[in-house]
Amino acid sequence: MYLYWWHSNVELITSVVKFQVEDKCQGKYIVCFDPLDGSSNIDCLVSIGSIFGIYKRTTDGAPTVGDTLQAGRHLVAAGYALYGSATMMVLSTGQGVNGFMLDPAIGEFVLTDPNMRIKPRGKIYSLNEGYANKWDDAIREYVNSKKQGPKPYGGRYIGSMVADVHRTLKYGGIFMYPATADAPKGKLRLMYECNPMAFIIEQAGGKSSNGSVSILDIQPEAIHQRSPIFLGSSEDVEEVLACIAKHKQ
Ligand code: F6P
Repeated sequence: MYLYWWHSNVELITSVVKFQVEDKCQGKYIVCFDPLDGSSNIDCLVSIGSIFGIYKRTTDGAPTVGDTLQAGRHLVAAGYALYGSATMMVLSTGQGVNGFMLDPAIGEFVLTDPNMRIKPRGKIYSLNEGYANKWDDAIREYVNSKKQGPKPYGGRYIGSMVADVHRTLKYGGIFMYPATADAPKGKLRLMYECNPMAFIIEQAGGKSSNGSVSILDIQPEAIHQRSPIFLGSSEDVEEVLACIAKHKQ
């Protein structure tokens, strides 16, 4: 097995760490993971999580970076753990999505949310509105449209991707981290944030996109590459994509 472990904010781990499992223990799979996502929320006790995606190796012999650079469509499994008011693990092996709650009394994860499905349309939009002046016109127009009418959407943004995506999965709606003027590729990392979360959302019947194609169809070129991301209820994601397409004309 070949592991890429990334973390940005934990004091003692300041750089990218690449683990190659010792030769005799190597296997057929590659794991890309973010062990502590949303870590700027740790000190104020807001929910954080861990994200992982698992690929089957495409070559024999010594593992290479190329084994890792697979589109999310080739994930064999992905999921996350959310450390919130309870601890939950959400997992897909490509045949739907199941949620397991930690029962501390028995020290086991219990299947509490079998066959999780996301609503086709929600009532919540989720993104960092502090960056509104740096968005494209399309994103500004879409977000403004969610505030209009007799039933405006609610805005929710935790700033921990795992928690924001989990709420989106449970309640419906849309999570976005779009490109901004100073971050044209967005912030979130394709291999260990966007792909696993897009895999879960698509397996639950939702939709994901970078603004033009499904997140899962992006061919990665670098382990730490970033991507803009839109994911959630299919109708909500289609609506933002229509707005983006309109502005491209
Ligand atoms: O990538 C780490 C992360 O904390 C995500 O979990 C979260 O969605 C995002 O960054 C928040 O970024 P910002 O503070 O720019 O909204």
